[in-house]
Parts: sequence; C-alpha cells; structure tokens
Amino acid sequence: MSANLKKTDSKKCSYISVLIRTEEDIKHPLLQPIAHVLTRKINEKDNGFIHWYGEDYTIDVIILKHKNGKTEYELMEESRSRGGHLAKKINSEKSTEICVLKAGESVSKNELLSCIEGISLGNYQFNKYKTEKKQHTLQNILVYDDSVSQNELDELKAILDANEIARNLANEPVINLNSLQLSENISALGKEFNFKTEILYKAQIESLKMGGLLGVNFGSTVPPTFSVLEYNPANAKNKKPLVLVGKAVTYDTGGYSLKPAQSMVTMKSDMSGGAAVIGALCAIAKNNLPVYVVGLIPSTDNRVGSNALVPDDVITMSDGTTVEVLNTDAEGRLILADALHYAKKYDPELVIDLATLTGAAAIITGSLGSALMGTDKTYRNLLIDCSNETFERLWEIPYWKEYGEMIKSDVADIKNIGGAAGGSATAGKFLEHFTTYPWLHLDIAGPAFLKDDEAYKQKGATGVGVRLLYAFAKRFMS
Ligand code: BES
Ligand code: ZN
Ligand code: ZN
Repeated sequence: MSANLKKTDSKKCSYISVLIRTEEDIKHPLLQPIAHVLTRKINEKDNGFIHWYGEDYTIDVIILKHKNGKTEYELMEESRSRGGHLAKKINSEKSTEICVLKAGESVSKNELLSCIEGISLGNYQFNKYKTEKKQHTLQNILVYDDSVSQNELDELKAILDANEIARNLANEPVINLNSLQLSENISALGKEFNFKTEILYKAQIESLKMGGLLGVNFGSTVPPTFSVLEYNPANAKNKKPLVLVGKAVTYDTGGYSLKPAQSMVTMKSDMSGGAAVIGALCAIAKNNLPVYVVGLIPSTDNRVGSNALVPDDVITMSDGTTVEVLNTDAEGRLILADALHYAKKYDPELVIDLATLTGAAAIITGSLGSALMGTDKTYRNLLIDCSNETFERLWEIPYWKEYGEMIKSDVADIKNIGGAAGGSATAGKFLEHFTTYPWLHLDIAGPAFLKDDEAYKQKGATGVGVRLLYAFAKRFMS
C-alpha cells in the first residue's frame, strides 16, 4: 500500500521538506541556517532543491517557480513533479519518514497536497518478482500545516492506494493474471472496499450471446469473464448511474493478425482500462462519495489457437449486429461492444469507457494524455476540467461522422477496422454503434504504460484514469 499520510503538529522530524516560492518565505525559522543560499537561488531563479544536513535534521527545500500566469492546475502539476523527484531523494537517504510543510502563503494548499501526492506516487515500486528487492524506505509522509485536515489526507490516501491497485494489476504478467484471476481480484476488492460485484462466467456470457467477447476468447484456453461492479449508496445524488466500462484484455498477442515481437511487449497492460475502472470504484467506495456508479469489465486474452478467430470471420454481437473481423488485433472494440450494449439496461446518465484501444491514439498523444471522443455534450467539459486538474490530460480528436462510413462492411453490418487514416476515430465510431446513451470514450493507449520513468511515474503501468475518474465522480451532479 502507498505511504501513510499523517497530520503532525510538531516539526520534530529527522527529515523535513519545505516548499517555498518568494524571498518572504525565507524568513521561516527552519530556513535560517541556509537563508543566504536560498536568497541567492531565488534571485538567480534557480528552482532546484537545496539539500542541507543540519545537526538535528536533514532538510530539502523545494523552490517553486514564480506563477508567471500559469493556471492553478499547472502549478499543482509542477509541485506534483517536484514531489516525485523528492521521493527518489528520500529513498536514497534511506529515510522512512518525511515531514512536509510550506513556508508561507505564496505556496497554496493545493500545491502542498499535490507535492504530497507526487511523493507518494513517486514512491511506487513493482518489485514482487525481484529476489533482491531494494525496497524503498519511505513509509510515512507527515504533513505540518494547519489548513490541511486528516480527513483530506485520508481521502487522498484512498485515491493513491487505488492508483497503486490499478498499477499492480496492469503490471502483473498474464501468467499470474488471466481473466478468471482478474475477476477473483475484483470480488476480493469489492468485499474489502464495500462495493457489490457480480462475475458473469462463460455460460452466462454465452446465454447473453456476447459474440465479441466470446469471439476474441476463441483462441484462449482460459474462459472469458464479464465483471459487474456496483456502488449505490443510500445518499447517491444520481438515480441513473454513471457507468464506467474498462477494456481488460489480459494479454494482446494480436491473434492471427499477430503483433510483431517488439509491439507485443507490454501487452500484459492491455487491461489498463479495466484496472482504472477497478481502482476508481475502490477509491469512490472507500471515500463514500454520494454517487451511483457501475463498472463493467469484459475480460479475455487475445491469442492464436486452433479455434481462434481469423480475418474474414463474421461474428454476431449481443445486440444482433454482425461484424466482419478483418484484423484480429482490433479485438478491444469487439469485447467493448458487448459491454456497451450491456450498459443499456442501466439507463445510464453517462457512460465513460477507457481502453488501450489503438496505437493510433498513442501516436497522437504520446504518453502525455489520452484521446477523447464521444457523443455526450453535458459532461464533456467537466471531464476535461478534471483531466487538467489531475493532469491525466485529455485531448479531443477529430471525430466527424464520415469516420463512421469507413467501418461499413461489404459482407456484414460493420467491419472491425477502418482505413489507414483516423484509426482512433474509426475505433470510436465502432464503439458508438453500440451506444444509445450519452457516452465518452477515452483511448488511453499512450499514457497507460511508460517505457521510461517520468517525474512521479515509474516506467511500467501508470494507473492512468483512476485519479481522473475519482475527480469526475466527486464533481458529477454536484
Ligand atoms: N491493444 C492494442 C492497442 C495498443 C497499441 C495499446 C499500443 C497500447 C499500445 C489494440 O488492441 C490494437 O492492437 N489495435 C490495433 C488496431 C488496428 C489493427 C486497427 C492497432 O492500433 O494497431
Ligand atoms: Zn489488439
Ligand atoms: Zn488490445
């Protein structure tokens, strides 16, 4: 689990980090021994860390940049990043504890909380398969600030734990996390975090005629699962649920349209959309948000096998739509189609799906954000604002109706790939075919799994979507 977050009313800690921005902040008593260096650094606009070993304590001063017209969200992200770097420092000092405070009012409460968030996110490790673990030492983040309450820290801790749950799931190799094991995890998390779960197994999936999920599963030796997560507190503000759908392909080889060796690596994380939905439900339930949320997670691996789908096959989806499969690597949309059809029974206020759906989206966004499209007009701006707040950023891609023409099939109702261009939008149009309600689609292929470390994200799974969905659920209908 992520580091403990505790309020403290004493600065008596062997390792302290102070956030400052202006010369005024240097008057803080703790900073007196290094005041002259700090003054120089601020005047030189050198915004580094000042690391100082005192007699009783070690101190790291984080000099934040001047605001220079930046938005509050941008300032928060800078602080989050600095926190990520600080986590590395704390661990290299082998400290178990850090006490964080801000020297004055030039640093906002949100910046302080973002820094704490960055420290905690930056402290993540996926080392369960290492025999020599080199375990990070940091366990407790103490917060010395009158304006921050323990309740706020508890809320943040639940979000950070949920992010960790999502990262652990998406980092786990398929050999230990197939569709059945994923659904066992979901049931266990439901019990732990107090939301309902129902797992539909192969027989039920067959009786629902989920031809997409069953078709992708043809090449597998493990049956598919369809997990339903439900959190509906008595004080929910919404009667019609917010439905979250997450792609959970436990491994994507591409099937007979086999991926080249280098593109296949990392495809254990093709269930990052599902992981985000699971994490979001955990955080929402743990923090008792007054919102009715349903999570739908179709899951299977996508493999070659004597019975696997081949290009040219035609399958029938749960809503009766026939689909010509021209590329078995475009499998995400096939399993999501059945989930989006299933969502209709809830008469949802809004459906948001998250999926590592297309390499084309990753080409557009890189790891910096996700591609957004969909039919909803009411909640779109709120979701974008939450994405800027959490810095799990979204960018709306061209989603003109003509992309829908590109998935017309010669032999079936639609086909599962479009042309060479607009690969993310044609995938979106494919999904839209199965929706009858306000719907937003997030293609998270770019940010879900990193090849290199970033400030507060380690290489590997990022848990992208958890912080965003939580922020959205909190502001949804309020
Ligand atoms: N899981 C992949 C998309 C993906 C690619 C996610 C890279 C993360 C990083 C998806 O199932 C896929 O293979 N999509 C194909 C679609 C194509 C065949 C139309 C793709 O993007 O190449
Ligand atoms: Zn694929
Ligand atoms: Zn995939």
